[in-house]
Amino acid sequence: MSTEPAAPGASAPSAATSTLPAAGLQGKDAALVQAMFDRVARRYDLANAVLSLGQDRHWRRVTAAAAEPAGAIVLDVASGPGEVAVELLRRGARHVIAADLSLGMLREGLRRHPDPGRIGLSFVAADATQLPFADDSVDAVTICFGLRNVADPRRALGEFARVARPGARLVIAEFAAPTWRPFRRVYLEYLMKALPRLAEVVSSDPRAYTYLAESIRAWPDRATIAGWMRDTGWTGVEVKDLSGGIVAVHRGRLPGQRDAT
Ligand SMILES: C[S@@+](CC[C@H](N)C(=O)[O-])C[C@H]1O[C@@H](n2cnc3c(N)ncnc32)[C@H](O)[C@@H]1O
Repeated sequence: MSTEPAAPGASAPSAATSTLPAAGLQGKDAALVQAMFDRVARRYDLANAVLSLGQDRHWRRVTAAAAEPAGAIVLDVASGPGEVAVELLRRGARHVIAADLSLGMLREGLRRHPDPGRIGLSFVAADATQLPFADDSVDAVTICFGLRNVADPRRALGEFARVARPGARLVIAEFAAPTWRPFRRVYLEYLMKALPRLAEVVSSDPRAYTYLAESIRAWPDRATIAGWMRDTGWTGVEVKDLSGGIVAVHRGRLPGQRDAT
């Protein structure tokens, strides 16, 4: 498998533009999403660490562990520069395919891991709704803070079911609304007011964090995501809240026997 990112067929890189994609579920333009993540790639980790108050590494670790990756071939969709992928490898994955729409993110991943094949990692440019992989080809799929950005998330969930083997696991980590009301109020206040201001200091594209805040608010609740998973073939769906419900981790699996890994 190539370690050089090639442009995904579905969405050729657009001309550099600072137009933000639509934050709601409808009308998200993949080319604008791609361009926005290209712009934030450079200082992506610093911004995440600061804006999540240091929680982001914990969230990624929980996501990787929930995939039970030991011995498995795992597809990490919307991988960014590969933080979850590396965590999956640390937990014994046999091979991890880190797939992302943004060439900027993939380049950043290759800068950090110049010889990814040596550690069992491949970076692949791919759109979650049109994955360039064969049916039944991976043992588990993870997507961490990615699904909210995909133009058609239900179609992506169907694609994950297509490329995953019977019995494979899917783990989705995504921002959510805290369930405890007083905390929810404080959090939403932070999200809409403080986060975009903080981003001006730590991000290479602060406006992307206005998109982040708005897209989190527009993202459906836990039950809706679980319903999408069931509709696209995933069973045994369960959800676990992290950090007071700021993040929800959905997990499910495909019916059938998981192949020996
Ligand atoms: C917030 S980042 C998350 C990156 C990484 N998973 C992490 O936990 O740090 C979202 C990523 O989703 C990618 N993305 C957005 N839409 C996508 C799509 N349709 N297919 C694949 N990747 C996509 C973006 O390029 C970006 O790298």
